[in-house]
Amino acid sequence: MIYFDNSATTKPYREVLDSYVKVAGEYYGNPSSLHSYGGQAEKLLSHAREQIAKLLGVKASEIYFTSGGTESNNLAIKGTALTYHNRGRHIITTSVEHPSVSDAMEQLELQGFEITYLPVDEAGRISVSAVERAIRKDTILVSVMHVNNEVGTIQPIKEIGTMLSRYPSILYHVDAVQAVGKVPIHIAENHIDLLSISGHKFHGLKGTGALFLREGVRLTPLFNGGQQEKNIRSGTENVPGVVAMAKALRLTMNKSETGIAEMRNIQRLLRSGLSCIEDIQINTPIENAAPHILNFSLRGIRSEVFIHSLEQQGIYVSTTSACSSKRKSASKTLLAMGVSEELAESGIRISLSLENNEDEARIVLEAIKKTVNQLRKVMKP
Ligand SMILES: Cc1ncc(COP(=O)(O)O)c(C=O)c1O
Repeated sequence: MIYFDNSATTKPYREVLDSYVKVAGEYYGNPSSLHSYGGQAEKLLSHAREQIAKLLGVKASEIYFTSGGTESNNLAIKGTALTYHNRGRHIITTSVEHPSVSDAMEQLELQGFEITYLPVDEAGRISVSAVERAIRKDTILVSVMHVNNEVGTIQPIKEIGTMLSRYPSILYHVDAVQAVGKVPIHIAENHIDLLSISGHKFHGLKGTGALFLREGVRLTPLFNGGQQEKNIRSGTENVPGVVAMAKALRLTMNKSETGIAEMRNIQRLLRSGLSCIEDIQINTPIENAAPHILNFSLRGIRSEVFIHSLEQQGIYVSTTSACSSKRKSASKTLLAMGVSEELAESGIRISLSLENNEDEARIVLEAIKKTVNQLRKVMKP
């Protein structure tokens, strides 16, 4: 089996699973309980918070645990909108965000907020000057993804942050779900106020995530209840999941320097092999792209048919993004990049992890070539 769908989710590391089982089985106290059993769980939670903060270069008090990227994004966007709506009701984002951002924006539009969706160029990038031009007196938030989940384009996060530092009343949120372990993340240097991460995208477990919230930034909670996480995110904490996420982040960060170089090599190998195929368009740009994603379209071949043919050979890739792959529509990101409807409907995404190697890539390349030939033969009139 070759698993090349790591942007959808990654395989948890063995050590991560072991930590989860140990904490879930032995330290199951509620961190809010006053007795020592609760105290032990609370200690584990604090330790994980410190570890994650250190790895991200921020303070432990600025990390809030959530159930994943979707919740972190919703909390960041709606939480700031609810808090700062008296200051203004205008938000800037891009036209290629993950639905956990774009759908949250649409919901805010129904509540009277105005959203500017910035267009992207043919590489899937927004321009810093377009962000600045879109700023109004009533702009309260700019939300931009670090790495696009469908094509891997890296947005100019640092340049936008530097520009926004001249507008201190505007908050800057970055969806870094696809960036962790694949591109360096510099929260303070890039003037980021809020940043979302998700455990299962870096070999942790599903249902775990975190939001970095810079000290001094206020947020209205989306969940009310027991006032956990300093009342920003009520709900009994998922202690084993958080401990597992901290371990996954540490292991990922430790491996990331060599891992990134290795993923780049695999990506290069795949790109040069794929580019020999007739009627293929490679949608992932060469520059400003993360090392783990390679998106391409095969003219005349339906992406569902293609991925199922690969699956029969034990190879797992995906159409566009996992959440939209069942919706059977053209990729939103590809359309925004100016790709034709036909090619946007036949997008295939290969996504790598630190665990993949070049031998797997060679096998996949051969399988892709063979499958394309077979499908094109069948389709010939
Ligand atoms: C860019 C991006 N943001 C947010 C999410 C949502 O994360 P989660 O699956 O943890 O809710 C994803 C998941 O694919 C993603 O790729």
